[in-house]
Amino acid sequence: MEIITVKNAQQGSQKAFNLLAQNLQAGAKVLGLATGSTPVELYKLIIASDLDFTDITTINLDEYVGLAPQDPQSYHYFMQKQLFAYKQFKQSFIPDGATPDLQNATKQYDQIIDENPIDFQILGIGQNGHIGFNEPQTSFNLKTHVTDLTDSTIAANARFFADNEQVPTQAISMGIASIMPSKQIVLMAWGADKATAIAQMVNGPITENCPASVLQQHPHATVIIDDAAAAKL
Ligand code: GLP
Repeated sequence: MEIITVKNAQQGSQKAFNLLAQNLQAGAKVLGLATGSTPVELYKLIIASDLDFTDITTINLDEYVGLAPQDPQSYHYFMQKQLFAYKQFKQSFIPDGATPDLQNATKQYDQIIDENPIDFQILGIGQNGHIGFNEPQTSFNLKTHVTDLTDSTIAANARFFADNEQVPTQAISMGIASIMPSKQIVLMAWGADKATAIAQMVNGPITENCPASVLQQHPHATVIIDDAAAAKL
């Protein structure tokens, strides 16, 4: 994996944007998208750019179970607000966390990914090393699946909800086996809260205890981090 250290999120997002632009020029047609605060600057750069995305398909990593698309805390709503309302894409997929038939939704999502292999996957990282919602101990062999969120993830996400009771405890997420076939992966991380997870991902053993460590095995994984996130390397 290639590690690029930058001063701040702004610089790092610009580097990620440049890489994305290169990939689009080289023919990338399917983008894997992430939510969370990490990619917000990159999405602003995409919106401000004059790059044409009308031929580009997007596939999001995950969604909370039980939240309708119009719920302001859902990832559907997040994507609409941060990107889709301002930039036109060919088609966009986000897992359906509100369906009564979650198992069927996971199968359908795998089929969507099979039909639209991901060229360029954007990732953030959780403080416990999760990617998407692949929490520690999740098998590297899983594709899209329903998962219980760990207490630390629920606590980290609580800041977006009015009270702790409202934070979802389950999510539907692309698995490691859905993410790894992506041709190019760009993982970004900003801030000291991510320093331990970044050190484990880069220098630790490849283990399901730190889901992001699997990226050591990816032939084209680029990690863009600021100085604070790089502090324990
Ligand atoms: C959530 C998302 C991840 C994201 C992580 C980090 O758990 N499912 O995709 O990478 O949060 O969030 P943030 O970017 O806000 O630090």
